[in-house]
Amino acid sequence: VPNAQSTPAAKEPVDYERVKEAIREVLDDEKHDDGSYGPVFVRLAWHNAGTYDKNTGKGGSEGAMMRFKEEGGWGANAGLDKGRARLEAVKAQFPGITYSDLWSLAGTVAIEEMGGPEFPNWRPGRKDYDEGHDVQPDGLLPDADGRDHKDAPAEHLRDIFYRMGFNDQEIVALAGAHALGRCHTGASGYEGPWTRAPTTFSNEFFRLLLEERWSKKTTHKGAAWNGPEQYEDPSTELMMLPTDLALVQDPKFKKYVEKYAADEEAFSKDFAKAWIKLQENGVRKFHGWRRYILFGPRE
Ligand code: HEM
Repeated sequence: VPNAQSTPAAKEPVDYERVKEAIREVLDDEKHDDGSYGPVFVRLAWHNAGTYDKNTGKGGSEGAMMRFKEEGGWGANAGLDKGRARLEAVKAQFPGITYSDLWSLAGTVAIEEMGGPEFPNWRPGRKDYDEGHDVQPDGLLPDADGRDHKDAPAEHLRDIFYRMGFNDQEIVALAGAHALGRCHTGASGYEGPWTRAPTTFSNEFFRLLLEERWSKKTTHKGAAWNGPEQYEDPSTELMMLPTDLALVQDPKFKKYVEKYAADEEAFSKDFAKAWIKLQENGVRKFHGWRRYILFGPRE
């Protein structure tokens, strides 16, 4: 569902340090999922950027087209309206920020606040497009069932992420974000969290992939599971998607899962690089970022 509100960026300078502060203020909410909007902000920033096509240069984190009904209505984006709505209060406080910068910064600040890497190199300057501009077709984001590669979902991940210019190592690093958050039957149809600490950034997703025994989910709360194919650990509390398990079924991916499970710092470092690359894919030109990086916010 797209948001009702969509306020164009005002022509006034933005103090991004203060925006970061305001984002931190709206992260926690005991009524939302596991107590934090952090995971949904991360997913919002990822899905906004994940439309990039390196062959055409189209899509990517510029545009914030998810504000409008076409991209906002894609099945893959179900549930992200909650994250967008939560950020409207920040947009109202800082009218000069674009939605595309705000969503990117919210995901980035959320990762930092949940114990992930720091991003001193995040830069503003993304433009918002008007409705009707440069709409990307649906189908550019990954499907958890592997889409047309159901027997080898790893190949679906390669189709999707190579198109954005990522390699196998970067795909595995980015997928480690599933340490955070959970699936919602009302959004994707899948159910449950990947880890026991879904508001803490860690390499737990990789450790669990390697160390737990994953079997097909057949029941849910005592009844038959009618949802899409997903996997559960012996406690039945944790879950994996078919595309998650592909990371240990495919030997080239598995090499990196093993590396990141053994070395959290390597994961954090590689994730940070891939995240910034994702957030900058498709951005035509960063305005004013040099000044921001070198001198900090304007007084
Ligand atoms: C949640 C699929 C990659 C971050 C989800 C959900 C699905 C999914 C089905 C559940 C959505 C819901 O029901 O609310 C996939 C697939 C991927 C992928 C197939 C292919 C590799 C990524 C990447 C990131 C990411 C690259 C970030 C770098 C998240 C987060 C959540 C999530 C943080 C939790 C959202 C929440 O708690 O509301 N993903 N994802 N995912 N994904 Fe992914």
